[in-house]
Amino acid sequence: MNPLIDTLADGAWHSGEALAAASGVTRAAVAKRVEKLRELGLDVEARQGLGYRLSRPLERLRQPGLQAALPGLRVSVVDSIDSTNKQLLEAPASDDPQFLFAEFQTAGRGRRGRAWRSPFGANLYVSLGWSFAAWPPQLTALPLAVGVACARAVQAQGLSDVQLKWPNDLYAAGRKLGGILIEHRGEAGGACRVVIGIGLNVAMSGAQADGIDQPWIALDEALAAQGGASASRNALAASLMRELVDMLQGFEREGFEPYRQAWLGYDLTRDRAVRLTGTPTFDGIARGIDAGGALVVEAEGERRIVHSGDVSLRLS
Ligand code: ATP
Ligand code: BTN
Repeated sequence: MNPLIDTLADGAWHSGEALAAASGVTRAAVAKRVEKLRELGLDVEARQGLGYRLSRPLERLRQPGLQAALPGLRVSVVDSIDSTNKQLLEAPASDDPQFLFAEFQTAGRGRRGRAWRSPFGANLYVSLGWSFAAWPPQLTALPLAVGVACARAVQAQGLSDVQLKWPNDLYAAGRKLGGILIEHRGEAGGACRVVIGIGLNVAMSGAQADGIDQPWIALDEALAAQGGASASRNALAASLMRELVDMLQGFEREGFEPYRQAWLGYDLTRDRAVRLTGTPTFDGIARGIDAGGALVVEAEGERRIVHSGDVSLRLS
């Protein structure tokens, strides 16, 4: 825990003297610690005569509250980590199901080696380690079912308009709100264990998002656009945990079909012109997904089935 972050979390001004006195260090040491907070992606303002404040209040994730959402499960919250996915891939499967939340990731990762920006406390970065009792027949559709769970959690925070972009993105107002990265350690014949990673943009500012190369949105902005109040990160996290566990149990029991139906209700590209970039690249009209979660695209009068992997889907 970082006491300076906890003091500044209220978003009010705190003088250098008061901060120095509270932690028994000099004002110069406080200035150095503030610099470190900026390296974590926190937007700390400094003003002569006023001191320091965060540009917006910060709601820290609280482990006890999250634990209470799902009492029987292992739930951890850490301040800083390389990647929650990487960490859980290395964790013992015997601890599954286990959730790991981080306030900050130094090496958050997206699909195909892309970086996931993870400024401190601005968003949700969470991974769930899950061991299936048996290999589910439609495992390739799991990212889509996870998308449904995420969409439901976001809706529970009051966002009426949320979409899913095949195969692994959450959208609001036509911009990327979050992403899903499912990884597993390849152990042929071994147990079926997945690590489900989710990054959900909640209150990220333009400055914190520096370097993101496509239109993105944070939940607070999407809620404000529809006249709603900001989201509570803890409430969103708790709801996400419950939706995920509920979905995974349903997926084990009933397979993908119930989630396929739900997914179609969120489909961003349905009946719209799209471009699939990969091998080969082609244009067509998106026509939903098949029973295994593959994308159906109508191109040159034919229905083509596109599996996720090395393809990118874009509206054209
Ligand atoms: P596809 O996989 O179909 O090409 P994609 O372009 O969304 O989709 P992903 O690997 O799924 O690629 O996601 C990474 C991208 O998500 C980043 O390159 C960036 O453009 C966008 N993005 C949105 N929010 C964030 C965020 N918080 N951190 C990093 N990237 C973000
Ligand atoms: C994507 O759209 O490419 C997926 C992004 C997934 C990001 C999350 S943040 C928590 C978890 N840990 C990671 O390193 N990545 C995932």
